[in-house]
Amino acid sequence: MTDRYAVIGNPIAHSKSPLIHATFANQTQQDLEYTAIEGPLDGLEARVRAFRDAGGKGMNVTAPFKLRAYEMATDRLERAQLAGATNALKFEADRIVADNFDGIGLVNDIQRNLGVALAGRRVLMLGAGGAARGALLPFLAQAPQAFVVANRTVEKAVALAREFDAPGPIVACGYGDLVGERFDVVVNATSASLRAELPPVPAEVFAGATLAYELAYGKGLTPFLRLAQNAGVPRLADGVGMLVEQAAEAFVWWRGVRPQTQSLIKRLTVPLN
Ligand code: ATR
Repeated sequence: MTDRYAVIGNPIAHSKSPLIHATFANQTQQDLEYTAIEGPLDGLEARVRAFRDAGGKGMNVTAPFKLRAYEMATDRLERAQLAGATNALKFEADRIVADNFDGIGLVNDIQRNLGVALAGRRVLMLGAGGAARGALLPFLAQAPQAFVVANRTVEKAVALAREFDAPGPIVACGYGDLVGERFDVVVNATSASLRAELPPVPAEVFAGATLAYELAYGKGLTPFLRLAQNAGVPRLADGVGMLVEQAAEAFVWWRGVRPQTQSLIKRLTVPLN
């Protein structure tokens, strides 16, 4: 029998997840159907349960439901707990199990696809919202030499760093504190690019950097990437690789088979110019 999966979000029409999972299923010969569901803003829980009760095996969760889906889960795996949010659910009898593959998807894209090792490197992450939170643990697990979180609202970065103190050293600061600092990898995890805004990061942080990574995808050269390009950063990337890699992790979790990601990333990439 065909197993059913779906992504739930609102809005959802833009989602590439059905295409990604259909491609993975085809490639690995898994018998599954994957659809997109526009979740009601005031009734996520009922919609998720209805999908499960109709035989659904798992769901991806996207904005604005990542926190609420986490709250309704009966079991929360470590990555979801540390992110305080979920992007993937698995239904096991009456259990709703939550994980979060956003951070590992990002780290896999940087290390495996872009070929930039994070161990011993200086990493700067801009932003202290949900996207930054989800990425912290997988980054720290790679043992960077330094991991700095800069945020417009400094207290949010400080609170985040305090929460994550146990797995590794994090420094929290405001943008002004970055003057004179240098990094190997700079990641934009703010939502500024969605409005074509530029976080107030001093251009000198890019001097000597190997990679500037924009979490948003399909937006071409965002103000952040343009700044990095002008500062001479040799490698620029947006979040399309992260999108495909997090999907691959969910696919492995659900199906026990690892799909190939390279050709799909190539197909979905919008040139950065
Ligand atoms: P998400 O889940 O996408 O991370 P969020 O939790 O609302 O969304 O967080 C948005 C992040 O982008 C925050 O770190 C926010 O900074 P503040 O905490 O100071 O609000 C950051 N952000 C959004 N627009 C920004 C801008 N124009 N410049 C700098 N930071 C910005």
